[in-house]
Amino acid sequence: MTSTLIAGNWKMNGLASSIGELEAVIAGRADVPETVGMLLCPPATLVAAFAKRCRDTGVSIGGQDCHTAEKGAHTGDISAEMLADAGADHVIVGHSERRADHGETDAVVHAKVEAAWRAGLVAIACVGETEAQRDAGNTLDVVGGQLAGSLPDGTTSGNLVVAYEPVWAIGTGRTPTVDDVAKVHAAIRAALEDRFGSDGSAIKILYGGSVKPDNAATLLAVEHVNGALVGGASLKASDFLGIARAA
Ligand code: PGA
Repeated sequence: MTSTLIAGNWKMNGLASSIGELEAVIAGRADVPETVGMLLCPPATLVAAFAKRCRDTGVSIGGQDCHTAEKGAHTGDISAEMLADAGADHVIVGHSERRADHGETDAVVHAKVEAAWRAGLVAIACVGETEAQRDAGNTLDVVGGQLAGSLPDGTTSGNLVVAYEPVWAIGTGRTPTVDDVAKVHAAIRAALEDRFGSDGSAIKILYGGSVKPDNAATLLAVEHVNGALVGGASLKASDFLGIARAA
């Protein structure tokens, strides 16, 4: 298993013509140590084409969300099985933009993690506090509650990755201090070990929120930071590769 995971979340960005960025990521992969896993989560329209191109390249492809059901009358939605069928091996669930824009609760995220597993995908479960919650001193309570509510029994280091993404740091260019990141990641680690035992020690905990090539080394050096979930900077191959090389 890789020791570090650098995951890119393209969000609602990317067209068929974006394949050039993917080609550049694949070409640059050679300079990134094999112990660093690289994953790109393009929009659903590109998953199949990207996954096909990425076969045997050391770059994995994931989805950004999935429905809880395997199939059925859910217009516009995509199941975990469909993502797996298209060649994805991971799926992000519970991103704060989905929690905010689509009212996803911890219970929904919990069901989506189980859907991911049903399809054989690794779930990347996102947690993180808003600025108001942070200002009120509630960060650890909020994150602890999201973990408890979102992670099903049966969570292992092989089927789940946690992404800690302070909502106020996403897309803002602001990041928590190294001390703050260390505190939250240590608390997440403790909660995972408390609930999942030795597996909890091995579950990867990614940091996300304004990770860039110039702050990646500092953030990735923090204890219990096992990788990054990168939004904006993953859209440019050179930035994404710069972050992966810093790992
Ligand atoms: P950002 O997004 O890197 O653009 O802040 C991170 C994320 O939302 O995963």
